[in-house]
Amino acid sequence: MEKKNIDWGNLGFAYMPTEKRYVSNYKDGAWDDGCLTEDDKVVISECAGVLQYAQTVFEGMKAYTTEDGRTVVFRPDLNAKRLKDSAERLEMPAFPEDRFLDAIRQLVKANEAYVPPYGSGASLYIRPYIFGTNPVIGVKPADEYQFRAFTTPVGPYFKGGVKPLTIKVSDFDRAAPHGTGHIKAGLNYAMSLHAIVTAHEEGYDENMYLDSATRTYVEETGGANFLFITKDNTVVTPKSNTILPSITRRSLIYVAEHYLGLKVEERPVPFEEVKDMAECGLCGTAAVISPVGKIVDHGKEICMPSGMTQMGPITQKLYDTLTGIQMGRLEAPEGWIMEIK
Ligand code: PLP
Ligand code: COI
Repeated sequence: MEKKNIDWGNLGFAYMPTEKRYVSNYKDGAWDDGCLTEDDKVVISECAGVLQYAQTVFEGMKAYTTEDGRTVVFRPDLNAKRLKDSAERLEMPAFPEDRFLDAIRQLVKANEAYVPPYGSGASLYIRPYIFGTNPVIGVKPADEYQFRAFTTPVGPYFKGGVKPLTIKVSDFDRAAPHGTGHIKAGLNYAMSLHAIVTAHEEGYDENMYLDSATRTYVEETGGANFLFITKDNTVVTPKSNTILPSITRRSLIYVAEHYLGLKVEERPVPFEEVKDMAECGLCGTAAVISPVGKIVDHGKEICMPSGMTQMGPITQKLYDTLTGIQMGRLEAPEGWIMEIK
């Protein structure tokens, strides 16, 4: 497969259209057969459910070129399941999980020339989503939907690659108790836009959201879960009903226990404990594991002992093992890698 002539090593996290996208439409209670198309435009009613009441859910995953030249996608079955959970919570029809996997296979195969080469540090980001397309003016779910998935080659989510980040404890909330924080709905990200713009204006890289009920527990950032390492090398990650169940976090917990022999605690994490942690990272498909060097709570700085120049040693081991599995340097647990043939 001849790759496109792209400066892979200098890609940021941005949209670059590729040749093909996958589309299936839902009408009269059923999804149509779906197909690949070169048309990157969506034409819908001015009154479409997605435009009026934000009825849209999405996913994010990545395809990689492995060390031995195969094209693989990391754990897409979990994205299929999470998209179904998200859709059901917003009263949308789920896209069948087997059809989701078939669509991703077709899509990545059709755009294989855009899957960055092994060793470039880049990957092909895959963005599947479902949105309400027919006119809706009273507050109710749409009757017609589109499932769409496109790809875009990406580099690191945070500028500067693995330079430790500075995080602000946000005054805004991302998710409410019994709300939609646990699903991947566009509305959660709309909620976070003012907070992230504010944080950037103040010189921070990201926000740490606390639980909105008590403002005492660590939740997550706008696009990644938190992972902490204690001074005795235990991996600690927040458990909460109002954060997104990150596939990267779930994978890292397995890696920590089964590859690295580390103790893992998944539990509510009081913000009060953060000052005693040795390392901190943000984990997600886009973020991979991005190290956090400093957390600022209304002017009070918590500086991670791992410092502002490099990842902490345990974070680095987690990063190396996870990316080793994704790039085929290390054997993956059964079912984690979908090869595109
Ligand atoms: N939390 C939020 C709010 C996210 O948007 C993401 C990204 O998908 C994550 C966490 C990480 O989830 P995953 O590891 O499944 O990509
Ligand atoms: C992802 O990691 O896939 C996400 O959707 C997070 C987003 C901030 C890009």
